[in-house]
Amino acid sequence: MSRTPKFGPAPDPALLDPMERASVDELRAVQLERLRATLRRVWDHVPHYRAKFEAAGVHPDDLKSLADLAKFPFTTKDDLRATYPFGLFAVPREQVIRLHASSGTTGKPTVVGYTRADIDTWSEVVARSIRASGGRPGMIVHVAYGYGLFTGGLGAHYGAERLGCTVVPVSGGMTERQVLLIEDLKPDIIMVTPSYMLAILDEFRRQGKDPRASSLKIGIFGAEPWTDAMRFEIEDNFDMHAVDIYGLSEVIGPGVANECVETKDGLHVWEDHFYPEIVDPQTGEVLPEGSFGELVFTTLTKEAMPVVRYRTRDLTRLLPGTARPSMRRIQKITGRSDDMLIIRGVNLFPSQIEEQILATDGLAPHYELKVTREGRLDQLTVRVEATPEAAAHEARLILAERLQHHIKSVIGVTCTVEVVDPGAIERSIGKAKRIVDLRPKG
Ligand code: DLL
Repeated sequence: MSRTPKFGPAPDPALLDPMERASVDELRAVQLERLRATLRRVWDHVPHYRAKFEAAGVHPDDLKSLADLAKFPFTTKDDLRATYPFGLFAVPREQVIRLHASSGTTGKPTVVGYTRADIDTWSEVVARSIRASGGRPGMIVHVAYGYGLFTGGLGAHYGAERLGCTVVPVSGGMTERQVLLIEDLKPDIIMVTPSYMLAILDEFRRQGKDPRASSLKIGIFGAEPWTDAMRFEIEDNFDMHAVDIYGLSEVIGPGVANECVETKDGLHVWEDHFYPEIVDPQTGEVLPEGSFGELVFTTLTKEAMPVVRYRTRDLTRLLPGTARPSMRRIQKITGRSDDMLIIRGVNLFPSQIEEQILATDGLAPHYELKVTREGRLDQLTVRVEATPEAAAHEARLILAERLQHHIKSVIGVTCTVEVVDPGAIERSIGKAKRIVDLRPKG
């Protein structure tokens, strides 16, 4: 898609946190000191970590340089499950003032905890993220991420308050009311998953209201993968900036990394709090900077539940800093290793299909990928909505053929395309579920 991105103004450097302006050398020194403290903290206070370090033959004193981190064992979701619910806490439970949990697709949720100082750190990094997105004190922030065990709502809320904004804690759902509140309270900023933003867009149209005339100037979107094509779609429809926020519960929640509105070129990792590595998803080997692989984080300042080399399963690469020169960026996340489909030998992420859908006039960005198995071969069916203008039967067949052709020629995958009625794909109010896997289990 040919389109020139639009950029927002850079903040006055005086507004930035001192660490956002630190030199690389200063940052590395702070990271090394904090990393040592983190390793020492888990060794002293979390038997599970001590046992894993001992089994790997490493001791916190073995960390002489940042590169030595590679000697330490990884942490995965299985470690959280094995110690469920509080076994990875490094402080007495009484010092934990908040719990969150992620639902998990099967079995028990994973639980994470925060001390008062952790909530403070989290508020700071989210405030920093909102400022990087173009937010300023005094703005009104509509939070439509879900409130509750999910970290999105409360994480956004505390960060917006910390920055000095007026927060409207709407949470997800009741889409009609979302539109009413946007019309009446005139927020400058909305924080919501990109897929739910599309449902809000539909509701504007249903009510006959012009989304471009709304008060919204900035959208801070995350919690699920979304493409640059989706960014343009949302920016054009709302006449706003669409900026990417990344995070995960195990590391802290939203606010681990955020795009800067003046460059929109990937997400700056707030490296004074979260140390990133990219590893080969198969071998676990640390990859040189710039290589694609799995993102791994070690927390540098967390008290209640520090994590050492946590495997996110998110696939991306590390790039040098731009708008914040000392802080490295992650490229917009294309997918999770769990969401990768292999269709007749071709690796495929839903985001690749999304790009092709958005490049096809007449298709709406509401879609799901159905995977079935016939014999030994996996079959992919893309179900995607027509726009209301293109909903006539003949047009749909042409659109289906066109999308099928794009997917074959650009991605190299043969699939079936079903163009369905506007509104036929279930709307999410949080993270969208793109893949419907109908393959037999086991
Ligand atoms: O989704 C935290 C969050 C809330 C981030 C609100 C941003 C905004 P979890 O529920 O633990 O936490 O899910 C974390 O979501 O490992 C990624 O796979 C995915 N994810 C989060 N942000 C992005 C993003 C929250 N900007 C998992 N782009 C992560 C792509 C994202 N994927």
